Amino acid sequence: MTKFTVNDRPVQYRMDPDTPLLWALRDASNLTGAKYGCGTGDCGACTVEVDGEAVRSCQISIAEAEGRFVTTIEALSPDRSNPVQQAWIASNLPQCGFCQPGMIMAASILLRKTSNPSDAEINAEITNICRCGTYPRIRDAVKLAGRIMRGEELVSGAPAPGIAPADAARAVPSLRAP
Ligand code: FES
Ligand code: FES
Repeated sequence: MTKFTVNDRPVQYRMDPDTPLLWALRDASNLTGAKYGCGTGDCGACTVEVDGEAVRSCQISIAEAEGRFVTTIEALSPDRSNPVQQAWIASNLPQCGFCQPGMIMAASILLRKTSNPSDAEINAEITNICRCGTYPRIRDAVKLAGRIMRGEELVSGAPAPGIAPADAARAVPSLRAP
């Protein structure tokens, strides 16, 4: 049995230890924010945070995650109050949206390290692929999120999600409070 922490909750997976973390999160925990894009570590659609670092969850087994702290996009905020979420919404950024959870996770991890990254730092740290080509808007949104974090800019409140957090928790058991 493989044990680690997902979104601040202890979890045990009764799965083959070689199971990719992405599949444990999506299939066993119903945390479907991280996406399967390439399965080869290239696209970053499956990006989650492991011990504070951006990790391609298709490339790490649950055995390798043993004892570590995993955070998925579902834990960013329940009400779109995270600065990265605010910047993404204010920028009307996504096109098809498939890559965006991974982009948002990579951006939030970068911004925790430096809230004022340069274009070069953004390009170096966010190596995710967007088939819709949203890269210029992503760079702008990362900088906007940094300004929001530093208190230099406010964006108008994001519209309420189409589903209330309590209803989402009923529909997605893994989102329920412990
Ligand atoms: S699905 Fe993991 S890097 Fe593409
Ligand atoms: S928004 Fe479509 S892949 Fe990035």
